[in-house]
Amino acid sequence: MDSTVGAPQGVIPARLLHGQKALVTGANSGIGKATAIALGRAGADVVVNYVAGREAAEEVAAEIASFGVRSAAYEADVSQEDQVVAMTDRMVQEFGTVDILVANAGLQRDASFTEMTLAQWQKVIDVNLTGQFLCAREATKEFRRRGVVPEVSRSAGKIICMSSVHQVIPWAGHVNYASSKGGVQMMMQTLAQELAPERIRVNAVAPGAIKTPINRSAWETPEAQKDLLRLIPYDRVGEPDDIAHAVVALASDLMDYVVGTTLYVDGGMTLFPGFATGG
Ligand code: BGC
Repeated sequence: MDSTVGAPQGVIPARLLHGQKALVTGANSGIGKATAIALGRAGADVVVNYVAGREAAEEVAAEIASFGVRSAAYEADVSQEDQVVAMTDRMVQEFGTVDILVANAGLQRDASFTEMTLAQWQKVIDVNLTGQFLCAREATKEFRRRGVVPEVSRSAGKIICMSSVHQVIPWAGHVNYASSKGGVQMMMQTLAQELAPERIRVNAVAPGAIKTPINRSAWETPEAQKDLLRLIPYDRVGEPDDIAHAVVALASDLMDYVVGTTLYVDGGMTLFPGFATGG
């Protein structure tokens, strides 16, 4: 198995999320995959959403099922309203409800500003921001319908938005991506404020540089890795499990009073590392 994904056995309390149903979007690779696996290890039943790469998604679901919980791979493009509605309905039918949404699916389409096409701008906003909006909206309808079930969780539902350090760090050459994540930050906070009275907890995780396919060129060669580490005070590139563990904790009742927060999981990337010696 790929050593960068999947929490080692024993690290995650196996009953922490027992009886909860989690939907993870974009869960066939990278951070989504590690998160789906970690939620399964914590005892949740997990729907592994993917848009392309059915085989990989089914492998993730099979691995999760091997922990003795339920898992299935569902295809849906999170930027398409009808597909998100159908996916959520299907999960309620087949799994009974949704307790945890990890709105993770995201992509980059990089270009310098005047080279960026409208299609590149739109695609990133559609998937990274509108996709999270649609998934959060449909999950919220289900949380509201079901209400709090005290034996399962203290809250009616948890939404965890996958953001990025680029919700606060401007990023030249990536205006579409940085704008989408800036939007995720305000969307998350607004939803948290709006839904907290219904005992729905909305939070975000903001990863820094994590070794996944999305940023392979930034860590693949020793030279690239050296440049990247200049931006990371903790002096290591993150692993998908670093994010997965944060999501499991945030989704659990251990964090029941955490509402509307962004948890930066970035090795200190947001600490203005350039100022360690300058300024
Ligand atoms: C991006 C990565 C990047 C990281 C740190 C992430 O949100 O997707 O490509 O390496 O931020 O800059």
